Amino acid sequence: GMPTAQSSHVVAIDQGTTSTRAMVFDRRGRVVAVDQLEHRQIFPRAGWVEHDALEIWQNTRAVVGGALGKANLNATHIAAVGITNQRETAVVWDRATGQPIHNAIVWQDTRTQAICDELAGDSGPERFKSVTGLPLATYFAGPKVRWILDNVEGARQRAEAGELLCGTIDTWLLWNLTGGADDGGVHVTDVTNASRTLLMDLRTLAWDEGIAAEMGVPLAMLPAIRSSSEVYGTCKPGILIDVPVAGILGDQQAATFGQACLEVGTAKNTYGTGNFMLLNTGHDIIDSTHGLLTTVCYQLGDAAPVYALEGSIAVTGSLVQWLRDNLGLIADAKEVETLAATVGDNGGAYFVPAFSGLFAPHWRSDARGALVGLTRFVNKGHIARAALEATAFQTREVLEAMNADSGVPLTELRVDGGMVANETLMQFQADLLGVDVVRPLVAETTALGAAYAAGLAVGYWSSTDEITENWGEDRRWSPRMDEAERERLYRQWKKAVQRTLDWVD
Ligand code: G3P
Repeated sequence: GMPTAQSSHVVAIDQGTTSTRAMVFDRRGRVVAVDQLEHRQIFPRAGWVEHDALEIWQNTRAVVGGALGKANLNATHIAAVGITNQRETAVVWDRATGQPIHNAIVWQDTRTQAICDELAGDSGPERFKSVTGLPLATYFAGPKVRWILDNVEGARQRAEAGELLCGTIDTWLLWNLTGGADDGGVHVTDVTNASRTLLMDLRTLAWDEGIAAEMGVPLAMLPAIRSSSEVYGTCKPGILIDVPVAGILGDQQAATFGQACLEVGTAKNTYGTGNFMLLNTGHDIIDSTHGLLTTVCYQLGDAAPVYALEGSIAVTGSLVQWLRDNLGLIADAKEVETLAATVGDNGGAYFVPAFSGLFAPHWRSDARGALVGLTRFVNKGHIARAALEATAFQTREVLEAMNADSGVPLTELRVDGGMVANETLMQFQADLLGVDVVRPLVAETTALGAAYAAGLAVGYWSSTDEITENWGEDRRWSPRMDEAERERLYRQWKKAVQRTLDWVD
């Protein structure tokens, strides 16, 4: 309903790959309070990545309570709550008990390779691309649900009988927020998350029954698809009681919205565990011929959907975590910048982090990581530097694909996410792209985008003009490297990428 005089703020839940955050925003789009909790990364074997969906739900409740406490507010002050989430990660749970029947299978997980190959058959990985906008790749949610139904005893039968529900993390959180098993949880997803399943038709915004049948995902277990900005239901006792849940956007779409990329031709690049560049293409569905995805950018209530081209990179920030956790090269993620600054360049070393295969523009699940160009000269500093540069090089590959698909070269790139605090990296990024890189004042664009979607639905904000008005520039990096050096480095990078392909027998 309409916000009361008391409802002075909006809450966003940002459920990411490594942590869950709750943020409280005011009318000007400023962050009033934040609370954050990390959750376990479960790696049962090479290429597999899982999360405990119940842990994520518990953390969600804790951080919402924590953020409200820090802001000295309670549920009566909150006009609406928005959800934004790591996309593609799939959960299957028991409708009657609310218990997941398996750990959530994370977007980075490559276990569904055989399922994708089988579905591709003689037609190849682009078999469902004209309908869904996506190649058949392990990244997407549909094959993950299929894997759970194939591998948990009795699951398929129970799914067909309507006893099991599935969803991406947005759906899992919404269902729990709105009452879960005991109190009539709402089983809904939004168009942006649905567009990452390999099951939704981009034109009709409905599940494609033929593809769902071939994928082996019963329609009975799928959530209803709704817009990104409308009241889906209200929260039940225990968390934000009676507050409407009024916005859902996949995290990359939320960042695009929060970055005020509302005009055709505007783009943002988010530096998280992975990197995701989205270009707003308006009401047009652009079919990529250069390895990009076509996806829903957002849909506000009954308005026509806005689409995007997306370049997804699986491993960027998580490579820094890997240097910390798996090699012990640094004790804290922030130290990577200091270590990289001990050297003036990469010393000839190139690090291609194909840990989940390679996503855009290659889409090769069979690629595996490589560190090449090594000599006795190379030290820790060079490896840290090569790891950071990998983010910038992969972004260049994606930007080239964007320019080729859209036919209109981007003249500047809006950036956000954790790694944009890294000055060395941002300068190198501008150098390598040959265009300006621009960081906004509010770096928390993902949570902000979800807050806007929710606040717009209940009239807390009146129109998207307010988003544009609230956006402001913080810093700009312009290219300083000469053209010959830029191209030499990029040529070397492409040779390194070549070494990672076809590694698996
Ligand atoms: O598609 C995966 C993406 O949504 C993950 O985002 O921020 O958790 O790395 P993030």
